[in-house]
Amino acid sequence: MDKLIIEGGQPLTGDVTISGAKNATLPMLAATLLTDERCVIRNVPRVTDVMTMLKILRMLDVKASLEHHEVIVEAGRSKKHVAPYRLVSTMRASVCVLGPLLAKTGKARVSLPGGCVIGPRPIDLHLKGLAALGAKLSMEHGDVIAEAKRLKGARIYLGGAFGSSVLATVNVMMAATLAEGQTIIENAACEPEVVDLANCLVKMGAKIRGQKTHVIEVEGVKRLQGVDYTVIPDRIEAGTLMIAAAMTGGDVTLQHTRYEDLGAVIDRLTAAGVGVEERNGSVRVRGTRTIRSVDATTLPYPGFPTDLQAQMMALMTVSDGLSVITEKVYPERFMHIAELNRMGAAIMLEGASAIIKGVPRLSGAPVMASDLRASAALVLAGLVAKKRTDISRVYHLDRGYERLEEKLERLGVRIRREREE
Ligand code: EPU
Repeated sequence: MDKLIIEGGQPLTGDVTISGAKNATLPMLAATLLTDERCVIRNVPRVTDVMTMLKILRMLDVKASLEHHEVIVEAGRSKKHVAPYRLVSTMRASVCVLGPLLAKTGKARVSLPGGCVIGPRPIDLHLKGLAALGAKLSMEHGDVIAEAKRLKGARIYLGGAFGSSVLATVNVMMAATLAEGQTIIENAACEPEVVDLANCLVKMGAKIRGQKTHVIEVEGVKRLQGVDYTVIPDRIEAGTLMIAAAMTGGDVTLQHTRYEDLGAVIDRLTAAGVGVEERNGSVRVRGTRTIRSVDATTLPYPGFPTDLQAQMMALMTVSDGLSVITEKVYPERFMHIAELNRMGAAIMLEGASAIIKGVPRLSGAPVMASDLRASAALVLAGLVAKKRTDISRVYHLDRGYERLEEKLERLGVRIRREREE
């Protein structure tokens, strides 16, 4: 296992290039199961979740290779349809092979993903959607088994207690591309990653409309073809580095960043006094001497993303006052609070809201990463902490950030990776 060691205190300066979006890539790789033909997916981030998805594809007898940032996949006529617990349990996003496998082979057996450190993550909406398309569902040995000769289009309301679901929308949308007739998904998620996947499916020959809205219409077709598609930049990586620049009073230009995907984040950063400017395809972020305290509430897109909640909280630990951050997507996603408090932050949890009292400076400490975005928040805290911060269990960070420490080092941070004894 690796750990990161950060000597805090330097402002970040310079240019950084944002990688492709993990959460667009993962369902897109699953979508390649929908065609026999060869697919080329470009701008793929080299993160461990992507490696896990490639392993799942290979277990399904799919030819899949990754070179630099390009994946070549060819599912051919493979009839394999089982995604085993060993892999699904390490990455919940594996569940998005369910829809494509079912639509293409008529059968899918996918291990039921359990809860995880960010709270309970049921898949009832995925199952509701597939059942509405005519799938016969059963459970055996902790696996979901879905069967259908040919799926049939339907009108499906896909909202749950916490609003829309990204991967349920993705699963049902992918399955519907090969169904007979029209499917209408109401209360669909409209995250940029869902739109990117829909655009990729359209390039494969799918008939999809409304993918930027909460009502997606899919007209089923008999077959899909291969595709050459480039994944959008990762708005969560971009947001994380924007907060890093803001927190350290730095001046950073993010290349390959879509300003339009970051509205809620830019709104909160601007309110905190941070300068954010769009410059043809890149975004410049300039920190300020005093970070003003601001509140934030996570919501499905275009609201403030839950995947930047922990990082926003890290920023608020060094603000000039009190702020409240409320989590409305995963009300238990607060594992980072205890670790941030170990670094001198003053955060109190009250239900699904964290109350943060800004302090003049954090102090470095040995801390432990607990999940992907919590790890990112600890890295951010380390950037502004006095003395040294050691972050162990960095494999969580590696699931979704491509060599974050190298990008930070190029921006002037004293950071290194070491093997943990
Ligand atoms: N939910 C249900 N039933 C379902 C599905 C979801 O109740 O069948 C609930 C969830 O428990 C949660 C809410 O609905 O309270 C939203 O969850 P959603 O389904 O949208 O999450 P997801 O699709 O499983 C994706 C991202 C997550 C991101 C969420 C929310 C991928 C691979 N994962 O998960 O990303 O937090 O959307 O935006 O796209 C991350 O990258 O760190 C990460 C966790």
